[in-house]
Amino acid sequence: MEIDYSDFYPLLEATPLEPWIALLPERIAHGLRTERHGLLPQWKELLAHLPTPGHASVELRSEVRVDGPEVAALKDLLMTLHPWRKGPYEVHGVHIDTEWRSDWKWERVLPHIRPLEGRTVLDVGCGNGYHCWRMAGEGARLVIGIDPSPLFICQFFALKNFIRDPRVWVLPLGIEELPDAPGVFDTVLSMGVLYHRQSPTEHIDRLKSLLCPGGELVLETLVVDGPEGYALIPEGRYAKMRNVHAIPAIPTLEAWMRQCGLENVRVVDVTTTSTAEQRSTSWMTYESLADFLDPTDATRTIEGYPAPRRAVVVAECV
Ligand SMILES: C[S@@+](CC[C@H](N)C(=O)[O-])C[C@H]1O[C@@H](n2cnc3c(N)ncnc32)[C@H](O)[C@@H]1O
Repeated sequence: MEIDYSDFYPLLEATPLEPWIALLPERIAHGLRTERHGLLPQWKELLAHLPTPGHASVELRSEVRVDGPEVAALKDLLMTLHPWRKGPYEVHGVHIDTEWRSDWKWERVLPHIRPLEGRTVLDVGCGNGYHCWRMAGEGARLVIGIDPSPLFICQFFALKNFIRDPRVWVLPLGIEELPDAPGVFDTVLSMGVLYHRQSPTEHIDRLKSLLCPGGELVLETLVVDGPEGYALIPEGRYAKMRNVHAIPAIPTLEAWMRQCGLENVRVVDVTTTSTAEQRSTSWMTYESLADFLDPTDATRTIEGYPAPRRAVVVAECV
């Protein structure tokens, strides 16, 4: 399977996203230019030579699983795309045990959002697209994920090679490269992105602009304790992560969303990330959460900040 969007563009014809057909090819090519990553040619080579087995059965609702004939050396082929961060996936008998149990996040989000049946969805910062597949499993009409990481795009196409669901696409774009699409999406998700953005309210504003009237925003982010107005601005790294700009207190996050004109803003889940949910595995052998926490006090990051805690906030665009 090549990285090929030619089956994507017809899905946009005669829809409000039709102008994207002219704009996207250049932006996609830019997102996947060879200079983006030294290993990109090797990853593309792998994709071009992935076997495409015959009949398979696909499950996306309860997990992301495709069953079918055994594929020779599949585990080694997929391992070329290490590190696998979001998942897990079951592909023709290979269990991709990713760094994150992204299915746990989905179980915390799904009960609180509008049913996805028939909806057009945008998932901003979708990684390799794990939640995009799960949303197709819930009956979404079209799921578009965007993520600037070329590795995650290659992982997505490796999975698409086997899953072959025409409703799910992941584009190699950051939100700043996404063409405008005012009022188009029924559901917009931004999970794990807000604290990487220099201006959180500009990010929320942009997300809101993409929603149709009555559409739903699902925002998941790191949060800290504190009153309205407070946000942690880490000096240097946070949990060894670069580019963490601001981690809001929950009342601050709610206020930002209301200021952007969103309504019915509600926090539906707050969970401290555990070392069972984010950990090193054979599919992601680098450091993970246990290495990012203070070894003598798991309530603190190695830099002395509060340990990662994440909130899911849901709101409506009216
Ligand atoms: C913490 S991960 C979250 C992945 C997924 N949404 C989830 O919740 O499991 C953040 C993702 O945002 C992506 N990202 C970083 N900057 C971005 C930007 N400007 N626009 C869109 N995505 C971005 C990263 O490549 C990464 O895959």
